[in-house]
Amino acid sequence: MIETTESRDVLATIERDRQRYLDELRDYLRIPSISTDPEYAGDVARCAAFLRDRMEEAGLSAEILPTAGHPLVYAERFESPQLPTVLFYGHYDVQPADPLEEWRHDPFDPTLEDGRLVARGATDDKGQSYAHVKAVEALLASRGRLPANVKFLVEGEEESGGAAIERFVREDGGERLACDCVVISDSSMYAPGQPAMVIGLRGMAYMELEVRGPERDLHSGTYGGAVANPLNALAEILASLKDPATGRVAIAGFYDDVRPLDPEERRELAQLPFDEEAYEADLGVDALPGEEGYSPLERVAVRPTCDVHGIWGGYSGPGAKTVIPARGAAKVSMRLVPDQRPERVAKLFADHVRRHTPPGVTAEVVELHRGEGVVLATEGPYVEAAMASLQEVWGAPPVRVREGGSIPVVNTFDQVLGVPVLLMGFGLPDDRLHSPNEKIDLAQFYGGIHCTVRFLDRVGELAE
Ligand code: BES
Ligand code: ZN
Repeated sequence: MIETTESRDVLATIERDRQRYLDELRDYLRIPSISTDPEYAGDVARCAAFLRDRMEEAGLSAEILPTAGHPLVYAERFESPQLPTVLFYGHYDVQPADPLEEWRHDPFDPTLEDGRLVARGATDDKGQSYAHVKAVEALLASRGRLPANVKFLVEGEEESGGAAIERFVREDGGERLACDCVVISDSSMYAPGQPAMVIGLRGMAYMELEVRGPERDLHSGTYGGAVANPLNALAEILASLKDPATGRVAIAGFYDDVRPLDPEERRELAQLPFDEEAYEADLGVDALPGEEGYSPLERVAVRPTCDVHGIWGGYSGPGAKTVIPARGAAKVSMRLVPDQRPERVAKLFADHVRRHTPPGVTAEVVELHRGEGVVLATEGPYVEAAMASLQEVWGAPPVRVREGGSIPVVNTFDQVLGVPVLLMGFGLPDDRLHSPNEKIDLAQFYGGIHCTVRFLDRVGELAE
């Protein structure tokens, strides 16, 4: 597409207002909207209000929609029934920031380092999704109208399972949310200068497991050898989840519904540039063990897995304490691929734990949240518009990849709205999402604004 005089005006507006966009993003990042921890519920609510206010200022009509959990922020601007409607989705909540001592700065004091903004949520997903808001604002500021109708639905509990939005979308059934495509920027490009369209995400079943033994903590000399130790038992149960020889998940029935890897997709994956040594060096590891018969790229994109996220119990303060703890617990999640049903996997997990709980202790399993994996349509005018806009801004044709992360509502959008869902991420692979020192490159943030403007222009041209 030829750049019109109009789009040059928008670019001039973005250029003029870039410092203010950045200042606003910093204010947004200062709010510790950690959805999983009830202590931060007030901050999450404050963050929703902040976003609503910025959306109003951008020229949208915005409101907060209370839910049983954290609020949703909804906004829209309707231009004309002749124009297509784009629904932008994002999330304003963030992951917990710990371990705090590994951050170079306070995670909620966004700090500029060499063209990168370092803060929790910088890329995941405040920075990326704020680019959509600024694109709409820049279009309205320079032209007074939008090339397409827009809706925004931004949730506050994506990082803790997304139960509220799931319900909202299903109850809405595509009425208020009626649209021609959904755009989500909550993923990464394949490499700097190499954009990606993400065409698949993994699902998840997230479990918590508690093992209980004696009714109180005991002296490990007086009782050690006589009673089962709940932490030892927990370690046995956790170790039984994977077969160390094959790297496969050892839960009976776990692989029953896994969609086999299509040979064509395997060829495509093998063609993506992937430097195993550089990957190891970046992560500070000396090997990449995993499920036998699959490459690391295959293992994170198209194969399911099981990981422990936290273990607690007993004594972990300084020095030594000789105790048999009364209880121990762990958080475990399984990343799922299409056709695996999270509710079934959660049940298989509970059955497995029951079968592997040694005598003398009891184990209790609860499911914290779940989400389905998805593979998305890869053809059609909206996908083309997204691909062309990514290419225009970053100068290379996007690769199509499936990602290992999860965005539970994507499957719901796909099922309920029946329109293309476009995962057009502006992050970079080294953004450290969920890790200390998360960042977004400013060039990616501004590129994301530009890309969204160009995408809306292209969508406008699809009008009947
Ligand atoms: N932005 C991520 C998902 C993602 C990560 C997509 C990497 C593509 C590449 C999202 O915010 C996220 O982290 N989701 C959680 C969801 C979970 C708690 C259900 C995840 O994947 O852990
Ligand atoms: Zn995340």
